[in-house]
Amino acid sequence: MTHRTLAVVSAGLSQPSSTRLLADQLAAATRDELVRRGSEVELRVVDLREYAHDVVNNMLTGFAPAALREVVDMVTGADGLIAVTPIFSASYNGLFKSFFDVLDSESLVDRPVLIGATGGTARHSLALEHAVRPMFAYLRSVVVPTAVFAAPEDWSDGTADGALRARIRRAAGELADQIERRPPATGPADPFALTTDFLQMLGRGDGGAPVS
Ligand SMILES: Cc1cc2nc3c(=O)[nH]c(=O)nc-3n(C[C@H](O)[C@H](O)[C@H](O)COP(=O)(O)O)c2cc1C
Repeated sequence: MTHRTLAVVSAGLSQPSSTRLLADQLAAATRDELVRRGSEVELRVVDLREYAHDVVNNMLTGFAPAALREVVDMVTGADGLIAVTPIFSASYNGLFKSFFDVLDSESLVDRPVLIGATGGTARHSLALEHAVRPMFAYLRSVVVPTAVFAAPEDWSDGTADGALRARIRRAAGELADQIERRPPATGPADPFALTTDFLQMLGRGDGGAPVS
């Protein structure tokens, strides 16, 4: 049985948060789909509001505090990513953007990503297409075709209505397809790993004899 890890990032600020609710439903649907196809799935959910100060400190100093480092490693080392933001001023909110700004710009290359958003009006649903999708295009991630937007009228008593449920299922299937096409993730890249042969760096290309 293949082991898969799914990172789930929610940038919702309210408590309770409709963004987190959508993120959880996208995560559950993707997990169920991968399990149905024979994988075992580990979900790792992060509410960015808990790391907001660390994200700002990282932007100011260039270094991630330990707790944020763990989150960054978790997100960059997962098989797939579900990234959900509330729409603020017709775009992703600042916390969502700032978190992805502090990641190494190579760390999500070729990573399957499902994007979602919540908003006060369905008229802003295309913010997913003109803001969130281009950001992941810059990071060279593979964003699945179905992006899931949830407006207030898509919920009743915290339950997704039929049309939203169908969008969630379709997007989850697309993310599972992309994850399945790739070998299991091996975790975050080691920033201290040697990329050059050490003997060559010393001018000892023969494996031991000093170069005259
Ligand atoms: C500062 C601010 C700006 C917002 N701007 C928009 C907007 O441009 N378009 C929209 O549809 N909703 C907008 N909203 C509404 C939020 O996107 C919506 O309430 C969201 O679902 C909140 O998510 P949460 O419950 O996870 O915090 C805005 C909310 C705030 C606080």
